[in-house]
Amino acid sequence: MSANQIQPKLIIHGGAGGHIRSEKGEATVRKALHTVVEEVYELLSFRGSALDAVVMGCQLLENQPIFNAGTGSVLQSDGQIRMSAALMDGARQRFSGVINVSRIRHPIEVAKFLQGDDDRVLSDYGANELLRELNIPMYDPLVEIRLKEWIQERDENFDKSMAGVVAEEALIHEPRKGTIGVVALDNKGKIAAGTSTGGKGLERIGRVSDSAMPAGNYADASAGVSCTGIGEDIMEECLAAKIVIRVTDGMSLQDAMEKSIAESRSRNRDLGAIAIAADGTICWGKTSEVILAAYHDGQEIGDTINWNNSELLGSKTPFN
Ligand code: GLY
Repeated sequence: MSANQIQPKLIIHGGAGGHIRSEKGEATVRKALHTVVEEVYELLSFRGSALDAVVMGCQLLENQPIFNAGTGSVLQSDGQIRMSAALMDGARQRFSGVINVSRIRHPIEVAKFLQGDDDRVLSDYGANELLRELNIPMYDPLVEIRLKEWIQERDENFDKSMAGVVAEEALIHEPRKGTIGVVALDNKGKIAAGTSTGGKGLERIGRVSDSAMPAGNYADASAGVSCTGIGEDIMEECLAAKIVIRVTDGMSLQDAMEKSIAESRSRNRDLGAIAIAADGTICWGKTSEVILAAYHDGQEIGDTINWNNSELLGSKTPFN
């Protein structure tokens, strides 16, 4: 790496919620997250752009059936899967996304296409029309365990407010929140953020997720953030945009995260966020018990899976 090049940074998440109780579940999540970090960081280290890295990371996470995005998405109250995703290019401060799209492998792919369109956020009917226009093949993202989860909930009259964050037998009935997200800083110093979700699970038809809003996914030249947790909580905090704007206005990323998460906690919100600033700081925060995140700081891969329950945030500051 030459002297004027920036050390790329990467952080990804697979949701937030209660602790993973089984060792098997923990090992599965860790392996999935670390594999994605490794692959995406390779792209960044070969001068890939932050935007390409974020799209690639979201696609790899959408492929993982354990996470609630793409394959493995949760079912809504009517037993259908509707997914949402957003992409934000920090350098151009450009946001694009899809809301409640069906029968597609990679919702983030549509958000990527819309980066170049005049109409940058499409919902259900229009988003599905665009899939046909782009000849994107039909794909059923349903996995058996999510169907089982839904059937169990139906038998219990849908008394739970949210489906499981990760699709694992032992985790059915755990209060968890799923989403996937990626934030990257490339070697030109550009930042991008992407988020993709199957939603809360068991929600009313037409419910809109935070993941395809600036509240849940935001970036500019100074920082990028992807959120996870209960969408309504994230929207009411306007969390992603708030953290980024605090950094833009001069706060350090750690301070911006700490203040925003503390405010969320004081209002009993259930959420988490990952972030990177232009100075290379990587940061994560949560009000829920755990945030399932992993990062590459240019030297090593780390994760937050066993991260202390009581802490509000953690960070990795740049070493160069
Ligand atoms: N954060 C994902 C959702 O609530 O839809």
